[in-house]
Amino acid sequence: MAIKKIGVLGAGLMGAGIAQVAATSGYEVTVVEVSEDLIKKGLSGIEKSLAKFVEKGAISAGQKGDILRRLRGATKLEEVADADVVIEAIVENLQAKRDTYARLDALCKPETVFASNTSSLSITEMMTATGAERRRRFIGMHFFNPVPLMKLVEVIRTILTDDDVYAEAVALAESMGKTVVRAGDKTGFIVNRLLVPFMLDAIRALEEGLASVEDIDNAMKLGCNHPMGPLSLTDFVGLDTTYYIANVMFDEFKERRFASPPLLKRMVQAGLFGRKSGRGFYDYADPKNPKPINVGA
Ligand code: 3HC
Repeated sequence: MAIKKIGVLGAGLMGAGIAQVAATSGYEVTVVEVSEDLIKKGLSGIEKSLAKFVEKGAISAGQKGDILRRLRGATKLEEVADADVVIEAIVENLQAKRDTYARLDALCKPETVFASNTSSLSITEMMTATGAERRRRFIGMHFFNPVPLMKLVEVIRTILTDDDVYAEAVALAESMGKTVVRAGDKTGFIVNRLLVPFMLDAIRALEEGLASVEDIDNAMKLGCNHPMGPLSLTDFVGLDTTYYIANVMFDEFKERRFASPPLLKRMVQAGLFGRKSGRGFYDYADPKNPKPINVGA
């Protein structure tokens, strides 16, 4: 199948990033959100990101204009009815996703491929909200934040995915300039299977007083050449998101390494979500110069 039109559901950080790379790669993209305000916010984020690429000389101002012309915002699911592939990046809530897929299944052409960008929910559980034919055309495509910069996409197949559909999804991600890793439908796939215990261990180390926020981060940044320390990364991903993923993974595997440390839970309860809320392990009052805060560990 020649893919020309891509529908993206959700214009948050991930959805907007996916829409941006799809349009940059030449696809006609319709991005759906629940309100005009959220569409505006998503498109303005894309515009800013593209402006950075123009500033760096990675694309020309003309190319930026072409990319933006390939992007359309919409507030109705019906607007993606003629898409060849729909990539879903809405809220990480199984029921919300299943409801969306059930509606989408009735709207889209029989050959449309459905792809979820979930980081932790079961692709199989989402897939069963659709009919028997669609189940063969249902996959996971897990992108990483910030999508325009991060090279990886995990492409996930279920027991029912057609080989041809899987190959098309891999080719689609590669056509967006991404490197693909293939994984089965086990919660967290490859990256979060390894990353989540790492982030939780960093929080446990802080909680037990091993070292300060800054020293834990510097240890892994400078000792292992990671671009960010694990506590900065948790702030970047969002403490609420990390807590949610950890709980889903603990539920799946029942292993202690996925169990959320009490400190993470308390910080989430207190509204310290990381960068998005202005405070997490660091205070982002000056975003260019985050200051570690005393989280009472
Ligand atoms: N679009 C365009 N340019 C962008 C951008 C975007 N969305 N975001 C950042 N940039 C640019 C910045 O403007 C900056 O440009 P400059 O060099 O000209 O100043 C450049 O990228 C570098 O950014 P920063 O100076 O802000 O900071 P860093 O050098 O630390 O780079 C980073 C930022 C790329 C985010 C880097 O720190 C990094 O790779 N961090 C790790 C990210 C990571 O691990 N992500 C995965 C999270 S896990 C996940 O997503 C899965 C989920 O399921 C949990």
